[in-house]
Amino acid sequence: MGKAKKGWMLLIASMLAIFLLAGCNSESSGSSGGTSKGKGDKIVVGFSQIGAESGWRTAETDSIKKTLGNDPQFELKFSDAQQKQENQIKALRSFIAQKVDLIALAPVVESGWETVLKEAKNAGIPVILLDRGIKVKDESLYTSFIGSDFITEGENAAKELINLMGKDSKVNIVELQGTVGASAANDRMAGFAKEIKANANYKIIKSQTGDFTRTKGKEVMEAFLKSDGDNIDAVYAHNDDMALGAIQAIEEYGLKPGKDIKVVSVDGIKDIFEAVIAGKSNIIVECNPLLGPQLAQAAKDLKAGKEIERWIKTDEDVFVGKEAAEEALSSRQY
Ligand code: AHR
Repeated sequence: MGKAKKGWMLLIASMLAIFLLAGCNSESSGSSGGTSKGKGDKIVVGFSQIGAESGWRTAETDSIKKTLGNDPQFELKFSDAQQKQENQIKALRSFIAQKVDLIALAPVVESGWETVLKEAKNAGIPVILLDRGIKVKDESLYTSFIGSDFITEGENAAKELINLMGKDSKVNIVELQGTVGASAANDRMAGFAKEIKANANYKIIKSQTGDFTRTKGKEVMEAFLKSDGDNIDAVYAHNDDMALGAIQAIEEYGLKPGKDIKVVSVDGIKDIFEAVIAGKSNIIVECNPLLGPQLAQAAKDLKAGKEIERWIKTDEDVFVGKEAAEEALSSRQY
């Protein structure tokens, strides 16, 4: 499809979302149209969350529950999919049946959303993606994406690792990937690989999924150590929980994480800051889970008939070494 045509389609989708959300609420406050959209003037949001696989994910859930829960303009319907896309699809269908005003979806994987998102579109319910992206041919199936640039996170992880270890050192890296098929895993892997490939001294010798959990991160790291123990110089984990599992595995193997094997991970939960301060980890690439305020603002803007950005980005930082971690820890919210 030509760029101009795509641009028009996205503009039309965005206008349609504004019209529908604005229209739905006026309908709920007194029309006799028969639909039950919105309770009074409230914006009813159905939020399909992936699960509770990581500290980051719990922080995201809390942020959305607190922000929308403390704001009288909202009513939140929350559903935990326990890592299963089929549960998310069921939740979306239930939100559609309940005629919510807006669906917020944190999609576990990138593909397989076309059918249910068409159902939402046909029902006139705008969809905002939270934290992870999706791949759909028709991009008008969602109104906006709120979240980070995962490719940049992967690039930053590699750049900081090369800075730390020196571009002339020979470095063997093992990689703990996130959930297979998740944009957070695909993009963090791609961004990191791009930077590493540009330096012939750096090699990714093993790469496997640890599903974004501490337990699986530890298991996979144990297997890496068993096969390549004395050959590993650094571990790159797509999230902190897997890095924390890996740190445990490295210690149990009899090596010093942060020294014998350098550790770089993405997220920025308090536990990893503590690990860096203890000298057991080295680099934190922040990914902000506190998306509640941005979601609330986007929903209010849509209701007010304003156009919202296609990609609402989050502010993020990188922390290298003890000093930076100590300075940041006292004000960490998650
Ligand atoms: O989609 C964001 C990722 O999902 C976080 O980095 C990870 O901790 C979570 O499970």
